[in-house]
Amino acid sequence: MGILPANKTNIKIAARTITQGGLVAFPTETVYGLGADVFNSLAVARIFEVKKRPEFDPIIIHIASVEDLNLIWRQRPDVALPLIESFWPGPLTLIGLKSPKIPELVTAGLDTAAVRMPNHSVALALIKEAKRPIAAPSANLFGFLSPTTASHVAQQLGSQIDLILDGGPTPVGIESTVLDLTGKPTLLRPGGVPLEEIEKIIGPVRIAPPSPKPLAPGQLTHHYAPRATLVIKHDNLKLPSKLKIGYLAFSSAPANISAYKVEILSPSRNLREAAANLFAALHRLDQAKVDIIIAEPVPEEGLGRAIMDRLRKAASATYPQR
Ligand code: TXA
Ligand code: MG
Repeated sequence: MGILPANKTNIKIAARTITQGGLVAFPTETVYGLGADVFNSLAVARIFEVKKRPEFDPIIIHIASVEDLNLIWRQRPDVALPLIESFWPGPLTLIGLKSPKIPELVTAGLDTAAVRMPNHSVALALIKEAKRPIAAPSANLFGFLSPTTASHVAQQLGSQIDLILDGGPTPVGIESTVLDLTGKPTLLRPGGVPLEEIEKIIGPVRIAPPSPKPLAPGQLTHHYAPRATLVIKHDNLKLPSKLKIGYLAFSSAPANISAYKVEILSPSRNLREAAANLFAALHRLDQAKVDIIIAEPVPEEGLGRAIMDRLRKAASATYPQR
């Protein structure tokens, strides 16, 4: 890891680091972000790993031109345009229906994707130089404040990421406003663009009911759960005989399993790879219209904790767990 001043040469190095699958912390006008190539699921899995978040949370995608929206959303809500014209580049994150091009892990399995164009020359230059959108949450450890200087990032994540671009203190200092446009415009997180300014442009905005976990608008209820009942495998589990079973294996499926469809998360038992594949595997099992998903538990260390959190949430209360 190194901290490099954010000049032209170093932005080029940082862009190459991103395209090669690395993680780069970079300044935006709000706070420092921890960036990865949006199309590289393994790199995105590493973001969750280094942040030590015990659960998956959808990540904001950063773009440098409005055309890039087509990579991210499958349709643009009408109300987005006046907001984009008024506030981009700037601290307003907009949520729309996700394009299939965006990997499932970026949006934590949701059918929606959050995107913004940061108003910071370093962030914009980095995205342009990398020639792809950059997925980036705030560059802090889980439970810590968002970093507004390069040294905040270095203190929390220094040894674990590939590069920190130092662009000085971030001017806004609070995170972006998060606005969901998939239905009636709804404020999920207050932030750098005041609600009143938004309402001047598009009229009244709904305010999402307060989340049980502050600072986490990607609330549980928004999260993807498979259609099929999911059961976490345990020793006394009796497999119902007449059902179409989808089997979610960690590294390999047992030879005697009579499943309709099997998904394997990581043949080499690598938790980063397993995390990168998790949501897409669950979606494929759903698409196969299985009645029940039997999920093998994974070791609860590193990313395994977030994987187990997701499986437990999907298992919910509908089936008796051990
Ligand atoms: O200012 C910012 O927004 C900074 C800079 C780096 O851009 N980023 C940031 O990211 O604060 P993060 O991950 O710390 O917070 C983003 C919030 C998360 O709480 C997440 O749940 C929510 O946005 N979010 C992202 N995608 C979402 C989606 N599709 N639906 C609902 N909430 C979403
Ligand atoms: Mg954050």
